[in-house]
Amino acid sequence: MALHIIDHPLVQHKLALLREQGISTKSFRELVSEVGTLLTYEATKSLPLETQTIKGWEGSDIQVSKLQGKKITVVPILRAGLGMMDGVMELIPAAKVSVVGLQRNEQTLEPVPYFEKLVGKIDERLSLVIDPMLATGGSLIATIDMLKEAGCKQIKAVILVAAPEGVEATLNAHPDVEIYTASLDSHLNEHGYIVPGLGDAGDKIFGTV
Ligand code: PRP
Ligand code: URA
Repeated sequence: MALHIIDHPLVQHKLALLREQGISTKSFRELVSEVGTLLTYEATKSLPLETQTIKGWEGSDIQVSKLQGKKITVVPILRAGLGMMDGVMELIPAAKVSVVGLQRNEQTLEPVPYFEKLVGKIDERLSLVIDPMLATGGSLIATIDMLKEAGCKQIKAVILVAAPEGVEATLNAHPDVEIYTASLDSHLNEHGYIVPGLGDAGDKIFGTV
């Protein structure tokens, strides 16, 4: 299935706190990072394992399961994606980071690219794109386009809150991509904001409201 809605109680509780009017920058930041960790746990569930033989604590050979050396690049979409970085990297601290900068034009809602720095050998890596919000889908689709143009073959998106419009557009453009989110919200309002949503996630994370 290409859309995964994570209904874990901790995810849903933290999401409820994030939605509250008047939440402080500190709390918003902390919660975005924490939900990022929990969603990453789910998004990495199917990483391949391999059996290895190691010396156990009392000296005999034992068989253990370890990650199959599948390389990962985390791809935060600037700015708001940076808010999830610490939480995501807590689980996969060795992952390399590819940064993509996109600013949604608030009138046309079209994504305007302004930065791209991808890691090497991206064709051998799983890309984990992170962004708190998936609204029209423009920013995520443009990011996936960039990653595929660079040769990336496996892409997952970790999103806090998604709108049906954005999920549909993304999966139409890129049916092979898997989306992990804490919530599929109701709809977009006339300004392209997710309802009920979180408001402007970038402004809340960076305190620029
Ligand atoms: C927000 C959000 C996503 C994008 C979602 O970023 O973090 O990147 O909008 O909207 P879309 O699905 O309609 O493209 P924004 O462009 O506001 O930039 P910011 O992160 O710098 O605040
Ligand atoms: N970007 C946000 O930060 N929030 C939305 O609801 C839509 C786009």
